[in-house]
Amino acid sequence: MNYLWETDTFLAATGGRPVGELPEGITGISIDTRTLKPGEAFFAIKGDKFDGHNFLVAAMKAGAAFAVVDESKLVSLGSLTLPLVVVRDVMGSMRRLAELARVRSKAQIIAVTGSVGKTTTKEMLRTVLSASGAVHASAASFNNHWGVPLTLARMPANTRFGVFEIGMNHAGEITPLVKLVRPHIAMIMNIAAAHIGSFETIDDIARAKAEIFSGVVPGGYGVINHDDRRYPLLKTLAETAEIDHLLSFGEKRGSDFWLREIEPTDEGSRISTRLRGVDVEIEIGVRGHHMAMNAAAVLGVASLAGADIVKTREAFKRVVATDGRGTIYHKGGSGAMGISIIDESYNANPASMEAALDVLANFDSVRTKRRIAVLGDMLELGKQSKKLHEGLAKPISAAKTDLVYLVGPEMEHLARILPKERIGGHYTDTSRLVEDLRTIMKPGDVLMFKASNRMNFSKVIQDLLE
Ligand SMILES: Nc1ncnc2c1ncn2[C@@H]1O[C@H](COP(=O)(O)OP(=O)(O)O)[C@@H](O)[C@H]1O
Ligand SMILES: [Mg+2]
Repeated sequence: MNYLWETDTFLAATGGRPVGELPEGITGISIDTRTLKPGEAFFAIKGDKFDGHNFLVAAMKAGAAFAVVDESKLVSLGSLTLPLVVVRDVMGSMRRLAELARVRSKAQIIAVTGSVGKTTTKEMLRTVLSASGAVHASAASFNNHWGVPLTLARMPANTRFGVFEIGMNHAGEITPLVKLVRPHIAMIMNIAAAHIGSFETIDDIARAKAEIFSGVVPGGYGVINHDDRRYPLLKTLAETAEIDHLLSFGEKRGSDFWLREIEPTDEGSRISTRLRGVDVEIEIGVRGHHMAMNAAAVLGVASLAGADIVKTREAFKRVVATDGRGTIYHKGGSGAMGISIIDESYNANPASMEAALDVLANFDSVRTKRRIAVLGDMLELGKQSKKLHEGLAKPISAAKTDLVYLVGPEMEHLARILPKERIGGHYTDTSRLVEDLRTIMKPGDVLMFKASNRMNFSKVIQDLLE
């Protein structure tokens, strides 16, 4: 049997006390009984809403090998047939397992942070590196104080490439996470106003992201965005952190991973790059300048990590949009015959809004008759919210948008300053939106939907497609 962890090793690493008959090993680690697979260890983590200790019966029914529980909760658990590993601190024991996973690993370890595009880039790395060897990467956006240790503790011993998304909402959060991950390569995709709520300035956001350099192993690499306004600041911060090698990606001349040209194709884009002097062309199954930037960075990092470049190039063709991050739907035939819908419902902040408006602007300009942007509130922007919503007026007009539909109270700020003839409607919620859009949509229209996830735009798109 190929275990993720032998039970003996598991007990030694966590310092846990076995109760009951433990199997020889575990096949995986779970913190959620709804997705737990038989043979996995269940860690009873205490979250904001739930405490895993209340789900031990469910864990047993789902076939957990054993549960890791807190010593202090033991008396209140009652009698269980599920074997247990009793520890002083469940999360702490997960971190110790994570440390051991890192110590035993021979993988090339890559950490990805940035204000937007972390998950997109992480998934792109997963796709292209898989062509060269076994990849272990974060699930979903598991990028915080529990997501990162969980991802690391789950990393199989035979992993060749480990890819970790690292996020933050406050200064000081990345440091302990990156010290656990100890990447060979640390990427900062960009710096922008996302979750600005807890920061005074965007420079402060850059400083918090740059904490990722503090965990890079000796001889390792930092990879940063040459086109970003905070490039000089990030460069200085990387030097202060004594990173051994600092490389850049971007359209600016002098970028180590230089994005030279983007051409739209039927299925996505063709991208010409020059990687430290070597010309490499790739094709990807997604549109957009932002995706090309991510791809240039990923291509460069894949080469740094020792991936087979021929296989990597081939694998880029398998890079496609994931749910709500640029997925394109056609209703009633493609091109001028039908209506195209760009689904960007997964999330929104000023940087990703601008990126998505750029995709709308460049969408099949021959057959497109009208460009319609349906935009909902960008949440968690704190006291900058008004200014940042108003700031969308510029990219909207640059994108030659014919009509704009706005949803949510924050979008009121934008509604007030956009030319009246451009506004199709402004709504407090999505209830009447679908009906109104149905009546105005015509063949040749392209509609781009983008809002913060909580605005529920994915439901609006589903209803429209019905
Ligand atoms: N480099 C980029 N610049 C701007 N927007 C991007 C970039 N990469 C992806 N996006 C868009 O940003 C949104 C969030 O992407 P995601 O990868 O989930 O970010 P994160 O994991 O950092 O929250 C999506 O709409 C995506 O298409
Ligand atoms: Mg993410």
